[in-house]
Amino acid sequence: MSHVFAHRGSSGTYPENTMLAFKKAEKTGCYGLEFDVHMTKDREVVVIHDETVNRTTNGRGAIKDLTLDEIKKLYIKSGWLRKEKIPSLDEVLEWAKSNEMLINIELKNDKIFYEGLEELVVQKVANHQLQDRIIYSTFNHESVKILKKITSCEVAALYSRKGINPVLLAQSLNADAIHANFRVMTPQLMRDCQQHGIPVRLYTLNKPALIQKWLNEGLSGVITDYPELAQKLKDKK
Ligand code: G3P
Ligand code: CA
Repeated sequence: MSHVFAHRGSSGTYPENTMLAFKKAEKTGCYGLEFDVHMTKDREVVVIHDETVNRTTNGRGAIKDLTLDEIKKLYIKSGWLRKEKIPSLDEVLEWAKSNEMLINIELKNDKIFYEGLEELVVQKVANHQLQDRIIYSTFNHESVKILKKITSCEVAALYSRKGINPVLLAQSLNADAIHANFRVMTPQLMRDCQQHGIPVRLYTLNKPALIQKWLNEGLSGVITDYPELAQKLKDKK
């Protein structure tokens, strides 16, 4: 069974990692939502892809050097009239209680080290009692090991480099699933994973022919900027 995950929300159509993009994703009826988290200067968790606010907002600076209050004063750059802000993880988790989507939280701690990010995120999920609907993922494979020790939620190892054997990677980290860049996956590697009971979700599948190809291969998750499109292709099958 293949499931569709909205990558940074419905980010092909709406500003990425915003409540607007998340709510639009939910309306598509997709199974899951993927988003990225970083830690602020005052040890809060915010939902944003980059290490800095420069690309996506009207502000400047690294998340690690800004407080939640400072971040909340910024606006997301977009052509939309509605002014979006960077959501906190708490806000997103609170909203998530109103629906049934699976939530894939990607910890963005591969390029930057955030002391205790794993514990903080796991605690927030517990506070909101959403443990049953969470998949954690990260490119930081030491962090995968930490998450596996502190939570019983699914933990996926992310990777994007060629030449990695996903079965060995998952086994070496005790990871529950593999989230891979579609460019480094092959049908044979996917079958190897399937034979070992390792779910494979691929990002970022945006083109219809590409989505169709991997649906035909029976992948576990389509991580896409266009969940509506992926849902339609999936339903046609
Ligand atoms: O989680 C899959 C995908 O989101 C990883 O890459 O850069 O879009 O966060 P990126
Ligand atoms: Ca991501």
